Amino acid sequence: MTIQMVNFGALLAATKSAWEQHLSRLFEKQQFILGEQVAGFEQEFSRTLEARHTIAVGNGTAAIELALRDAGINSPKQEVITSALTAPFTGIGIVTPGASIRFADVDPNTLLIDLNSLQERITRRTAAIVPVHLYGQPCNARLLKSIAAKAGAVLIQDACQAHGARFEGKPLTAYSPYVAYSFYPTKNLGALGDGGAILTNVKTIDARLRMLRDGGRRGGQVAFVKGINSRLDEMQACYLRAFLPHLAQWNANRARLAALYLDALQGIDGVQPLETSNESVWHLFVVRAKKRDKLRHHLTSHGVATGIHYPVPLHLMPAYKEAGLKKGDLPVAEKAAREIVSLPLWPLMPDSSVDEVVTRIRAFYRQ
Ligand SMILES: Cc1ncc(COP(=O)(O)O)c(C=O)c1O
Repeated sequence: MTIQMVNFGALLAATKSAWEQHLSRLFEKQQFILGEQVAGFEQEFSRTLEARHTIAVGNGTAAIELALRDAGINSPKQEVITSALTAPFTGIGIVTPGASIRFADVDPNTLLIDLNSLQERITRRTAAIVPVHLYGQPCNARLLKSIAAKAGAVLIQDACQAHGARFEGKPLTAYSPYVAYSFYPTKNLGALGDGGAILTNVKTIDARLRMLRDGGRRGGQVAFVKGINSRLDEMQACYLRAFLPHLAQWNANRARLAALYLDALQGIDGVQPLETSNESVWHLFVVRAKKRDKLRHHLTSHGVATGIHYPVPLHLMPAYKEAGLKKGDLPVAEKAAREIVSLPLWPLMPDSSVDEVVTRIRAFYRQ
């Protein structure tokens, strides 16, 4: 028996009639770029997440890049601070427009950006702060908003792992002018390919981002600004529109499965779950594990898939050596990267899979 990290077959079967309907309408219309499917998805995503505007783009990396470009953050004199423990793509979205990247350490309990470490790194050059709502758990957006305002920096939230998450009951767009999402297939709301979006409540930002994602054009063949080409495609919008009505239920299922894991893992000495709030949307279920690599090997040999998010903190990746950090500089993120493991969790995963995974983990530490 194998237990996968995610099973797309079950999710596709549960939504088949909806995506078939959208696809057949698309094939009838034959407008494959920026047509009615993307427009419909943008409206529906805005409504679901209680944002005024959604600008659908090619992927989450481009969502971060476009937010920075729109905010005029595109020169090496401008510094952007993010968390050292995130997907390498957060960093790519920051450096592509031309800004200088800086890294803060993470909180040892939650692995979210450490607000003291962040504040220590703020300088006169700090132009933006990009916190990451890692594993589906929202950072303290209220404090981040005031830290950014005090620093005169733009707050851009990386919510690529946190579709549907709110902070203190409010939508994430209440805290900053840009919130970036990815629709990479494994996300809480995933396409069957790449996709992304920026959410904002600001009308002028919406208008500019629509130009920036589409070659700087305003619908015609004239480029008014130096935009990029990064548009969600119509086919992906068909799937996203079919999945979106299930997001709340799927997130509730994730939370229920996570609670089962937390309960079942109690008393196993080798594993330590992270601290999570009840506003997490549980993109991933991550624990710190003793003998992590051996545990993974044991689980793989029993058909249980696992992941590491992420094995190398960004400040130690060659692509980000310009930040000038070395091993030992961000010790909390470095230690976490050696200890963390992500266990299988997807919205329609049967409860019995949790039992199976935990039974295997318990057996490993008994050996
Ligand atoms: C935290 C985070 N930021 C950014 C991204 C980039 O998103 P994408 O893969 O859609 O470019 C991802 C996903 O890979 C992510 O998990």
